[in-house]
Amino acid sequence: MKTLDEFVIEKQAEYPNAKGALTGILSSIRLVAKVIHRDINRAGLTNDILGAAGNQNVQGESQMKLDVFANNTFKRALMAREEVAGFASEEEDTFVAFDTERGRNARYIILTDPLDGSSNIDVNVSVGTIFSIYRRVTPVGTPVTLEDFMQEGHKQVAAGYVVYGSSTMLVYTTGNGVNGFTYDPSLGVFCLSHENLQIPPSGKIYSINEGQYLKFPMGVKKYIKYCQEEDKATQRPYTSRYIGSLVSDFHRNMLKGGIYIYPNATTYPNGKLRLLYEGNPMAFLAEQAGGLASDGYQRILDIKPTELHQRVPLFAGSKEMVEKAQEFMREFKE
Ligand code: AHG
Ligand code: MN
Ligand code: MN
Repeated sequence: MKTLDEFVIEKQAEYPNAKGALTGILSSIRLVAKVIHRDINRAGLTNDILGAAGNQNVQGESQMKLDVFANNTFKRALMAREEVAGFASEEEDTFVAFDTERGRNARYIILTDPLDGSSNIDVNVSVGTIFSIYRRVTPVGTPVTLEDFMQEGHKQVAAGYVVYGSSTMLVYTTGNGVNGFTYDPSLGVFCLSHENLQIPPSGKIYSINEGQYLKFPMGVKKYIKYCQEEDKATQRPYTSRYIGSLVSDFHRNMLKGGIYIYPNATTYPNGKLRLLYEGNPMAFLAEQAGGLASDGYQRILDIKPTELHQRVPLFAGSKEMVEKAQEFMREFKE
């Protein structure tokens, strides 16, 4: 049995330039995952965890208590280390520069969706944490600026998620494949359980909020109908599965084969998911596992961000399924 710690140290040799920084960052993330795991597991027992926090984030979404708690836990864990120069989160108005001597001299920045699928907490359904790590572009020794956070997804040095499901798992990539670690709460350690994860090239699952069907672009409507048609050769009709937590939907599709779609819609002209906290890290994982991630027309990882909280349509998962969806998007472009 190999622990996450052992695995990361073993791989450290493959990144001579990282000087152990990634190892340190990953141990903070591991700690955050354990803290959130513990609190989610007590969620029904205390009023401190369930329910709305009573305020909205900068994007006008009401925050849950666990959104705020997860965000603060993440920020504090990173601030306590020397490797991280700044942090940006879906739950913060703008990026946070760790403007101490240690922070100014650090070389990495982290973006996060600290609690993904937060509407599912109160009903005991899986949620997640997503993270994305970049090397800063501004000079070491100065405070980080917006420029450090607005990098294209293909520049990520690592990304991953924690899924708090029937078991808690941490899945991450450093650009050299994807590996998954299952948490053993009795030992307090993550153990390598899914080595070199590969998304099947095709699958039988499509995941989209079909209640919004009438608001979707024509290409998506036609693709949904394609998923529902009978065709033995391509195992159609596909099965519809939608949890409403990107992390859990993506995780299931990565293991079983499938496509996750959150398209643009009349109510969400640029989609709902955020490029920097959700789109890019999931796209990096998808590609590293042999899958694809697109906005319907182009590779997510090639999009040049223009705003910190920018949204993006997301089509991610099995390669052949994402390619097919893109064909429909191109053919029925409005
Ligand atoms: P978050 O909880 O971080 O705001 O993200 C919720 C996201 C994503 O996890 C999920 O797939 C999607 O929103 C669900 O949205 P709909 O309810 O509109 O389908
Ligand atoms: Mn989210
Ligand atoms: Mn969130």
